[in-house]
Amino acid sequence: MGSKPVSIHGQWSSRWAFTLAATGSAVGLGNIWKFPYITGENGGGAFVLVYLVCIALIGIPIMMAEVMLGRRGRQSPVNTMKALALEAGQSPYWKWLGGLGMVAGFLILSYYSVIAGWALAYVFRTAFGVFTLATPKGVDSIFAHFIAAPEGLLFWHTLFMVMTMIVVARGVQGGLEKLVKFLMPGLFIMLVVLVGYAMNSGDFIQGLHFLFYPDFSKITRNGVLIAMGHAFFTLSLGMGAIMVYGSYLPNHASIARTSVIIALADTLVALMAGMVIFPIVFANNLQPGSGPGLIFQTLPLAFGHMPGGAFFGTLFFILVTFAAWSSSISLIEPAVAWLVENRGVSRIHASVTMGILCWLFGFLTIFSFNLLANFTPLDMFEHFKGKTLFDLLDYLTSDIMLPLGGFLIAIFSAWIMKREASRDGLEMEEGLAYMSWRFLVRYITPIAVMIVFLRAIEVI
Ligand code: TRP
Repeated sequence: MGSKPVSIHGQWSSRWAFTLAATGSAVGLGNIWKFPYITGENGGGAFVLVYLVCIALIGIPIMMAEVMLGRRGRQSPVNTMKALALEAGQSPYWKWLGGLGMVAGFLILSYYSVIAGWALAYVFRTAFGVFTLATPKGVDSIFAHFIAAPEGLLFWHTLFMVMTMIVVARGVQGGLEKLVKFLMPGLFIMLVVLVGYAMNSGDFIQGLHFLFYPDFSKITRNGVLIAMGHAFFTLSLGMGAIMVYGSYLPNHASIARTSVIIALADTLVALMAGMVIFPIVFANNLQPGSGPGLIFQTLPLAFGHMPGGAFFGTLFFILVTFAAWSSSISLIEPAVAWLVENRGVSRIHASVTMGILCWLFGFLTIFSFNLLANFTPLDMFEHFKGKTLFDLLDYLTSDIMLPLGGFLIAIFSAWIMKREASRDGLEMEEGLAYMSWRFLVRYITPIAVMIVFLRAIEVI
């Protein structure tokens, strides 16, 4: 079997459209919400350095592998893995790798949608001038009240989930390409404005020091695992999202160059978000390690005190919501594509089914911030002490399932698949570039993931 010409679900209009869509998937809450707060919780510079190394040595090669597998299989990850395993004369049970990814994507979306709902709610708060001249305490108490009320969170979660499912039901090619074209430049410009604010009004030097000065005594074994997990999370890797996007990619597009562009854009956005948040944190004596609320406790301060802040703030949270929107779609696309292929249902039917399930699952996250805030079921393990259901869900998905998925994708594309098949799939010549890719995916990724896992559970 060579590659099929096109997927039954359609195809991107060009390589550029794919690049935009994949960048849209990569850039999201992971960059603006998650990266700053986990960097804050894990001590700063050393954590950032590990994260950057993981992006370069694991992220980019795995992204290339996922796009290649998707384009060669031209189906949902489950069926792509099955077809490519059969092509290589191996067990069809490799399809479970696609299954693992589907479940991971589903679980991530269940909490992703809740947090995206926070951003959505903050669009209106900033627009109504709630934060004008607010103090750090005031901003903090607004956030605390907000997450304490489950009904409100449920409302915004519902709204965001409906938005996601509308785009998925219409097919990702339809609206997505257009959305991302104005979203990315808009987000970038807003971040530049905010970095400007942080330079003038924040403690910029201390912020940079925190972000870029690696103090290795501040990072734990578990912190290394979180940094690696985040490299997968932020690039949307390890669960088939990029694979399914790759399955809509026309032949004859350079996978290597595209992957590098996506990774660079994604990293830039995350670092800029960090350069905005931490100077504000230090200038206002806030805690960098205050957790998932970090951007909601810092950015409103900036917007409350800068000229035109209500306007810029509203625009910013709109852009964050859009960035989350173009990411959430890719989390559920593998499951929807699979339902359409294997159950013969329509796209609309598949989207509604998955949407409702995911929406229900989101309740666990909503309640983790209020009714079940003290429900920390794994307290008996030192490792999981004090972790709410949301914390555990996040840990299970980004720090275990995604790296595990990435590990298996690496094993598959460099050990199971025939050399000619992967080279042909990547459309690369036999040469230094191809050999480096193969070396990274064959040895570095699997070994690195294993070592980080084993160290986190203190076996080595
Ligand atoms: N990368 C996105 C972000 O940083 C989230 C995301 C979208 C994702 N699709 C994914 C994470 C697939 C892991 C796997 O916000």
